[in-house]
Amino acid sequence: MGVIKILMDTVLVRCLFLYAVHPLLEALLVGQLPQWAVVGVERRAHMDRVSALLNDWAMQMDLSELERRRWLAAGQVHDLLRDSEPSELRETLPSKLVKLPGPILHGPAVAERLRREGVDDGELLIAVAQHSLGDVRFGRLGRALYAADFLEPGRAFLPEWRAELRERMPDDFDAVVAEVTEARIRNLTESGSKVSPQTLDFWNMMAREAA
Ligand SMILES: [Fe+2]
Ligand SMILES: [Fe+2]
Repeated sequence: MGVIKILMDTVLVRCLFLYAVHPLLEALLVGQLPQWAVVGVERRAHMDRVSALLNDWAMQMDLSELERRRWLAAGQVHDLLRDSEPSELRETLPSKLVKLPGPILHGPAVAERLRREGVDDGELLIAVAQHSLGDVRFGRLGRALYAADFLEPGRAFLPEWRAELRERMPDDFDAVVAEVTEARIRNLTESGSKVSPQTLDFWNMMAREAA
């Protein structure tokens, strides 16, 4: 009996190790936000919807349990500082990042915070840091988060078009991410805003891949 229990405990510990992400992210997956989070009710609902979408895609893509949990966690963590004052975020960021415009500071600020808390998942950190602009370094997770943030069903604009893009995911993954990027660039140019060179680089890379 004792030997069986030891074996079962060992298997359980190994399973938890295989499936677990960083404890801070695991806590998020059961609804526990870190103390440093600054998110209102609406923002939290948005993160839940982004996370649910990423979870759906991960399941449809038959990703491993660990990978699915990373995708869920990315959705739950990406906007944790979105409702902070930009001036407060700037105080926490390294000097090379403080000049970023206010609305896109929160991604790098969350990634910086996660890094300090011991999260060393490079792909997830880039996905979170750059989810507002896109990034040529994105892996599959970064691309998925970038698309899910735009396509989640709670956003009010162009609901039918966005529903159609959601419908095409994840089978038409890269084409949908490219369309999302194009739409985000178009939104910026039509409103007279500047497009970050980083977003254009991301767009150009996807266009090259599709050629
Ligand atoms: Fe965001
Ligand atoms: Fe978001």
